Amino acid sequence: MYRTHSNGELRASDINTEVTLAGWVQKTRDKGFMIWVDLRDRYGITQLIFDEERTQKSVMETASKLGREFVIQAKGTVIARESKNPNIPTGDIEILVSEVTILNEALTPPFTIENETDGGEDLRMKYRYLDIRRNPVRENLVFRHKVTMAVRNYLSEKEFVEVETPYLIKSTPEGARDFVVPSRMNEGQFYALPQSPQTFKQLLMVGGMDKYFQIVKCFRDEDLRADRQPEFTQIDCEMAFVEQEDILNTFEGLTRHLLKELNGVNVAEFPRMTYDDAMKKYGNDKPDIRFGMEFGELNEVTQHKDFNVFNQAELVVGIAVPGGNTYTRKEIDKLTDWVKRPQIGALGMVYCRCNEDGSFKSSVDKFYDQEDLAKWADITGAKAGDLICVLSGDTHKVRAQLSALRMELAEREGLRKANEFAPLWVVDFPLLEWDEETERYHAMHHPFTSPKPGQLDLLETNPGDVKANAYDLVLNGNEIGGGSIRIHDKETQALMFDYLGFTPEEAKAQFGFLMDAFQYGAPPHGGIAFGLDRLVSILGGQETIRDFIAFPKNNSGRDVMIDAPAVIDNEQLKELGLQLNLKS
Ligand code: AMO
Repeated sequence: MYRTHSNGELRASDINTEVTLAGWVQKTRDKGFMIWVDLRDRYGITQLIFDEERTQKSVMETASKLGREFVIQAKGTVIARESKNPNIPTGDIEILVSEVTILNEALTPPFTIENETDGGEDLRMKYRYLDIRRNPVRENLVFRHKVTMAVRNYLSEKEFVEVETPYLIKSTPEGARDFVVPSRMNEGQFYALPQSPQTFKQLLMVGGMDKYFQIVKCFRDEDLRADRQPEFTQIDCEMAFVEQEDILNTFEGLTRHLLKELNGVNVAEFPRMTYDDAMKKYGNDKPDIRFGMEFGELNEVTQHKDFNVFNQAELVVGIAVPGGNTYTRKEIDKLTDWVKRPQIGALGMVYCRCNEDGSFKSSVDKFYDQEDLAKWADITGAKAGDLICVLSGDTHKVRAQLSALRMELAEREGLRKANEFAPLWVVDFPLLEWDEETERYHAMHHPFTSPKPGQLDLLETNPGDVKANAYDLVLNGNEIGGGSIRIHDKETQALMFDYLGFTPEEAKAQFGFLMDAFQYGAPPHGGIAFGLDRLVSILGGQETIRDFIAFPKNNSGRDVMIDAPAVIDNEQLKELGLQLNLKS
């Protein structure tokens, strides 16, 4: 038996027990006549003591050779510690070692295996297995396990069945590029890795599975960000014989359960907001509603004066920064520079100080008097002591710019509190989205999403106005889930493909299997998929999903530990029939 106890287990009540422990050497303190070793495993740290007077010479000698991260086994007796350590659960005791075995030596690790490490991100990624030995990383992975267990238990109890769907498939459009896999047996042909199991879960509904879920890997070749990985995990769900309301209620239940189980937080009924309102009030379809700073549209009170910048703008819109009147002129100038950065792209920023005495001082006093500025304050909800920041321009762009400013200011002001949870359903998404590049409408969610009842006719006249039975679940300003009620008849699906620019032949080639299935009695159905990595990281109080993935990719989509992607040899290329293609 390698060990009788873990390193987090022994207490004062175990004193005088003979034990065997195993683990990694966290650190050693060698005073010659006395050696202390902190022995670590997943469960904690236990102090070992080697004492010239009580320990055999050969054991003392082995102890003096132990280096950081050596793997050892130690046998000994639990004794009371002279100077207790109240910071660790095993701090009342230590092990007086009688026998020690070096199970494996270790090179000095390239960074310290401690909560606050000296290793940079790149180094930690390259030696991820060492990073995982650190408490914060390990705790995140354990937390992820707890979330997935809670999800599985909750959904199983509600009669959802977890069904696996294939990874080697044909393109499922979710708006990103596919990762493809060449087929050796079908030369010149490729599988696509699923961007989601969307079509399969719909087929499971045609198959009568009724309630499906799957914790499943999805693959999307898209630009990476803190909340995006090329391979990520969804909690993918689908239900038959449901309306939007059923889906929202079921998955609000799941989310509420997780918040309670994992964070001990009780959240009341989730608020709902239409997509249009979210855009108008927050300039964003995933608003963080933990704090206010709602947009106030100022066209009526700013235009038709002599300030041409505002007169020419499609939208003049502002937010009140609570307590922002304390910002110095220099700080406001810096904020202006911030919104003018190319990533944000505003042309400038107008501001108005709301003084404690009720007066106003704006950067455009030449054009607006106190009465005008009082209206700005009224519309943006600014109080004495606040600062109003105003941007103007093309509606679409200026909303995105002000939304970025709102989030930045909230971050700076500490309004985005990690232990506060504000879920929100955003509903009534547009069915279609205009794509400037291709000059075509695209499905905003995916092409299987059904329009709201009675809106199909609008497709002819105002396609951009058609609303879908589509919804997102937003948590603290992050889209953690999205779904829709699906089209379940062949005719409507064919019509949608047509609107999206597929010829009947293309639609048949790509999705013929789905339309065929719809001819054999497809029930009304709908579903949702949560981004598990995002959900876990937000429940864990963070927003970088990499920290909750055991072996993540870096920002260039590389796994720097195993060095992938990599070239493959000519032999393998030949087998796949790819050599010719590469040369041509
Ligand atoms: P959608 O594309 O909205 O919907 O994806 C669902 C959720 O998956 C998460 N997500 C990601 N997480 C990490 N990295 C990524 N690259 C990434 N892309 C998406 C988000 C998102 O809300 N089939 C539909 C669902 C449905 O209609 O039922 C779908 O995949 O949290």
